[in-house]
Order: sequence, then C-alpha cells, then structure tokens
Amino acid sequence: MKKLMTLTVNGIKHEVAVEPRRTLLELIREDLGLTGTKKGCGIGDCGACTVLVDEVPTFSCLMLALQADGCKVETIEGLTENGELSKLQEAFVKHGAIQCGYCTPGMIMTSTELLRHNPNPTEHEIRHAISGNLCRCTGYQKIVEAVTACGSETETGEEKS
Ligand code: FES
Ligand code: FES
Repeated sequence: MKKLMTLTVNGIKHEVAVEPRRTLLELIREDLGLTGTKKGCGIGDCGACTVLVDEVPTFSCLMLALQADGCKVETIEGLTENGELSKLQEAFVKHGAIQCGYCTPGMIMTSTELLRHNPNPTEHEIRHAISGNLCRCTGYQKIVEAVTACGSETETGEEKS
C-alpha cells in the first residue's frame, strides 16, 4: 500500500505517494522525471546514482524512497542556475573529464559535496572522495584535474593555469 511522504528536491517541495519498496532512485527518475541521475548497477557498486541527501552523497539505488521522508535531496539538475552550468560542471567540460558521461552526474554530485566542505582538496582527498564512483572511460585523471582546478577557482576566484 502506498504511503504519503514529503521531500524537497532541488528546492522544490513534493508530496508523493510511494510503495514501501520503491527506491529513492526510482522516485527521482520515474516519478519526478529527473533522469539526470543514472542507474548503473542498482546494487551499490558504481555510484552512478549518487545524489545528495541532506548534503550527504548517497547511492539512491540503495535508499528506500520512504527513508528520504522530510529530507532535502539535490540532484544534478539542481546545480544549474538560470540555465548556467555550475563551476564544477564547466570544469568537467573544460578538462575533458566527460567521455560517455554515464558516471558524470554521480561524480559531480560527490565532488560538489567535497568542494563545499573542503574548497581546496588535495589529489588524495579527491581520489578518496570519488572512490565509490566508478568511471569506465576517463582513467580518473581528468576528473581529478577538473575538481582540482575548480577547487583552486573556488578559493582564489580564478582558475590556475
Ligand atoms: S546504480 Fe546505485 S551504486 Fe550503481
Ligand atoms: S565518462 Fe564514461 S563512465 Fe565515466
């Protein structure tokens, strides 16, 4: 039997009726139509489904939708402002950190949270933060470079060359 729940997604409050076994990923993609969040493995191995739940990077395939009752959820769609990419999204494009793009939303959500709490992370800290996000294409180096450059930009107001 469906249960009513309330959650805020990208600043918009939603009241939805969900089946108890529905995952947060299914709620986000299928009920709310926010398909930027990807489903890879569905079992907590790849990180493609990462969203922020109350500012914590979370595998939405492993979380029941009802567990997010009352929570603040952020997805990749919430990072753009007035159609403008976030600085980190721009850095991913500029540094070639996107190839097929399937890991990218999850990778950017994880890295966004890292930069919020640690605006100038070391390479080790970046690699540790994204260790749950798998990328089959880039070899990770370009991703690390993009996050590093964005971190420098966040701190100094200007990206280092
Ligand atoms: S789809 Fe959730 S961790 Fe892979
Ligand atoms: S860009 Fe293809 S999986 Fe990361």
